[in-house]
Amino acid sequence: MKRVIVSSMVLLCSLIGAVHAAGDAAAGEGKAAACAGCHGVDGNSMVPTFPNLAGQGEQYIAKQIADFKAATARTDETMVGMAMMLATEQDALDVGAFYAAQTLNSTVPVDESKLELGRQVYKGGNLKTGVPACQGCHGPKGKGVSASLYPQLGGQFVEYTTKQLHAFKTGVRSNDDNAVMRNAVAAMSEAELEAVAHYIASLK
Ligand code: HEC
Ligand code: HEC
Repeated sequence: MKRVIVSSMVLLCSLIGAVHAAGDAAAGEGKAAACAGCHGVDGNSMVPTFPNLAGQGEQYIAKQIADFKAATARTDETMVGMAMMLATEQDALDVGAFYAAQTLNSTVPVDESKLELGRQVYKGGNLKTGVPACQGCHGPKGKGVSASLYPQLGGQFVEYTTKQLHAFKTGVRSNDDNAVMRNAVAAMSEAELEAVAHYIASLK
């Protein structure tokens, strides 16, 4: 009986610990200094291959840092090395909290002719081929759902989003739990994939 009580207390403490594991944005600002050259001082990047991080979910950012460090299910020449600079999980959460607190000022150029197909896919998926509606997880405006680790997509560069969708499709990126993203893009046509990336970039 005593053992049961002790182990449930341990479980309870670890649950509370998980809930309280939060980043400190002020501490994260200094730790993000090395990231500014590519992602921008406030997480608004100037280069389409370097994703915007402003307004991105804290826990999602920390997860990506951990995944880059593991360098198995998500790899990138540059980011694996950069992620190593954040020694602890707390460092990654602090940096995540800093970027989460920044405002996204995206002005990504989009191809207007692709927005209608992109909107259809984003809002309703493709019933015939089994593509799910993106907004079901990423939200109607692409803001994501931070607590569920569904990333913000809105305002992201077309190049970056297209690269990630291809990476999920080929399985080069496989860090999506339960293969949610690999399944979501499996049946997407190239036209749908490009169109949805433009629509996502246009969301604010
Ligand atoms: C030399 C440029 C460069 C520097 C410096 C850099 N990054 Fe990156 N970062 C990239 C690139 C390129 C990608 C996209 C990788 C890919 O295509 O999957 C990326 C992706 C990311 C992502 C994933 C974003 C997403 O939406 O999934 C996070 C998080 C991130 N970087 C955080 C950081 C942090 C924190 C630092 C500083 C410790 C940092 N980066 C420094 C170039 C850089
Ligand atoms: C069932 C929920 C779900 C659905 C539906 C879904 N996604 Fe995702 N998506 C996720 C999750 C979770 C991740 C983060 C995976 C990880 O941990 O790296 C993600 C990641 C992404 C990323 C990478 C973001 C980044 O910053 O690197 C893109 C792009 C994306 N989704 C686009 C889409 C599109 C387009 C659709 C619709 C065709 C879609 N998603 C449908 C859950 C979903």
